[in-house]
Amino acid sequence: METILTGVKPTGIVHIGNYFGAIKPAIDLMNSSNAKFYFFVADYHAMTTIQSAELMKEYTYQIASTWLACGLDPSKVCFYRQSDVSEIFEFSTILTNFAPKGLLNRAHAYKAHVEENTKKGLDSDEGVNMGLFGYPVLMAADILLFNATKVPVGLDQKQHVEITRDIAKSFNSKMGKTLIVPTELINKEVATIVGLDGRKMSKSYNNTIKLFASESELLSSIKKIVTDSRLPGEPKDINNTIYTIYKLFATAEECKSFEKDLLDGIGWGDAKIKLFELANKKLQPMRKKYEYYINNPMEVDRILEEGALKARPTAKETLHRVKCAIGINKTKL
Ligand code: TRP
Repeated sequence: METILTGVKPTGIVHIGNYFGAIKPAIDLMNSSNAKFYFFVADYHAMTTIQSAELMKEYTYQIASTWLACGLDPSKVCFYRQSDVSEIFEFSTILTNFAPKGLLNRAHAYKAHVEENTKKGLDSDEGVNMGLFGYPVLMAADILLFNATKVPVGLDQKQHVEITRDIAKSFNSKMGKTLIVPTELINKEVATIVGLDGRKMSKSYNNTIKLFASESELLSSIKKIVTDSRLPGEPKDINNTIYTIYKLFATAEECKSFEKDLLDGIGWGDAKIKLFELANKKLQPMRKKYEYYINNPMEVDRILEEGALKARPTAKETLHRVKCAIGINKTKL
């Protein structure tokens, strides 16, 4: 049986790019497969960027509430905070010894940081802490501890899963076959969601549409979508940002009718209203659930704690196996 595991960092407000690129595919997978599922909030990973207690709390509840609102079913998935499973961190310490420094030197996030420093004429280690450098090892611990076979991630995380594989293979070849070697599951169709300005939707481009914006915020974001200067009455190019985003929400029939409107020369303003109406209709039920969870953090805590409780027996089992393999074991589990 497959074991599917993925983590999300609580690092900011969730936008529709996150939803269509990561959350929805994972929830669809949950609904369509009878694999074993582990989804978790990677709070210790977020510490490389979030170094504020207030923000960490805020983003953690936001991300957990978002997943629950989007349909994560805690009876089908172990849904937990990474920080509640202390075995992950013990395992991570063990794995550092199977993670060659040269391999970590090549990890994108760290490498990009070093390159940026070099470009600016700074010391190459400027602003680099061991959390950033060791990030892929902690991620390997997240994955390998639960014997994951498949790891759904965005393209940007592919290398991290490759590093996980390298670490697992190195462990297995030195200590005997102990760890399951996982593969990444990349959802190519939705790997990049277009933002308001036509570039990839990303927090760093400031071109996102918040997933749980209020109606008025949603409308004002949509109004910011960049269009060309074609006037009402002029036929529009089908390849435009409004329609690209519309398609994410629409059925095949809704797409057809929108295409006709575009070719018939609908004004951009009216096209934006149509997008708003559709997106709002689709988001409303989830937004309601989100409001519920965000206003009931104790319920979210309870769900996450139960998830950790369900996850820990496997974590303990793997850690025990690993400790036996390295000779740091007690006779009893
Ligand atoms: N690094 C991932 C991200 O930035 C989050 C993450 C942490 C993760 N641990 C994981 C993803 C394990 C998949 C599996 O999005």
